[in-house]
Amino acid sequence: MRFAKRLDQVPPYLFAELERKIAEKRREGIDVISLGIGDPDLPTPEPVIAALAEAARDPGTHQYPTNHGSDEFRETAAGFYRERFGVELDTGSEIVPALGGKEAVGHVALALLDPGDVSLSPDPGYPPYTAGPLFAGADVHYLPLAEENGFLPDLGSIPEKVVARANVLFLNYPNNPTGAIVEPGYFERAVEFARANDLVVVHDNAYSEICFDGYQAPSFLETPGAKDVGIEIFSLSKGWNMTGWRTGIVAGNADVVERYRQLKTNLDSGMFEAVQLATVAALTEARDFPREMSEVYARRRDLVVEALAAIGLSVDPPKATPYFWVRVPEGYTSESFAELVLEEAAVVVSPGPSYGPSGEGFFRVSLTVADDRLEEAVRRIESTLRAGIIEA
Ligand SMILES: Cc1ncc(COP(=O)(O)O)c(C=O)c1O
Repeated sequence: MRFAKRLDQVPPYLFAELERKIAEKRREGIDVISLGIGDPDLPTPEPVIAALAEAARDPGTHQYPTNHGSDEFRETAAGFYRERFGVELDTGSEIVPALGGKEAVGHVALALLDPGDVSLSPDPGYPPYTAGPLFAGADVHYLPLAEENGFLPDLGSIPEKVVARANVLFLNYPNNPTGAIVEPGYFERAVEFARANDLVVVHDNAYSEICFDGYQAPSFLETPGAKDVGIEIFSLSKGWNMTGWRTGIVAGNADVVERYRQLKTNLDSGMFEAVQLATVAALTEARDFPREMSEVYARRRDLVVEALAAIGLSVDPPKATPYFWVRVPEGYTSESFAELVLEEAAVVVSPGPSYGPSGEGFFRVSLTVADDRLEEAVRRIESTLRAGIIEA
């Protein structure tokens, strides 16, 4: 058997590798606590489940949907963008359903990139910003996210030759894995940069609804001119605890939205209409649910800040996202630290380089586990580190 080489170009998907390690330990009877994967532990809100159950009983939802999405889905999505972000979207041309943000990132890359093109992809970044372009045959140019720049790419430092070949700029704020938020004026600069260099901005908005301390994350589409140069991928996965449901929205520039939709008509048949109706329920009846989730994560965040400080790891509490991006203690690499806490504390953290080379020296902790398990995990890390200090 011979396989296409494109899969060999990307490392094994980080979380697949983590899942394997966790399963192995659990088979050995070890109580592993995973802070590695950003998968909400709490259930989807009840009105969403009720809407799905009702819709699934209606045979009218059982046939192939269209990749345009139902009128109700698009009107609700437009209403949400208007009310939440003050963004007007044309329901006929500027919105389509996505089977989750991940699907959209991958397929948008296929719709926009040819072999020889360049994708400007944040480093560290969500792995599909690399895999999607590589599968399209394009080259990836990493944009390092440095702490001193607020984990925002320095657009001015990209070599001209690279910019000339670039066709896509991926951005993602609030950011995974760093938890950073966008600074005022940055999206404006990105629009200018895209206009000047004829490239498409793809803003991956997976976390705008998980915010703390009164912060409200903007949509990229709020930026003047954004719709001329780009799109936004909005996901319901994190705000509404719907990771398993595969629902999101692609909105913005009508030409990009249409090319993405066309591509998908060749590869998938759209979103189950019952899931579209459940999404409508999320964005209307359960509209405020992400605020409740944000309170849960804020409480867990404070608990972790305190515990990390107690073991000498200082962090800026994130203003959004369920993630902490933490420097490893001195004397460790990301990998050796992740290995240590897995072996000695049976706690899984994500090593920074899994998100790109600039992640070296960091690890990511996800707050998507119950408070008591989170406390237990931090306690275990603390005693592992203390034991290390005593041994040393
Ligand atoms: C930055 C980012 N984009 C997209 C996604 C994927 O979300 P979805 O479940 O909608 O595919 C994630 C999930 O972790 C993410 O962190």
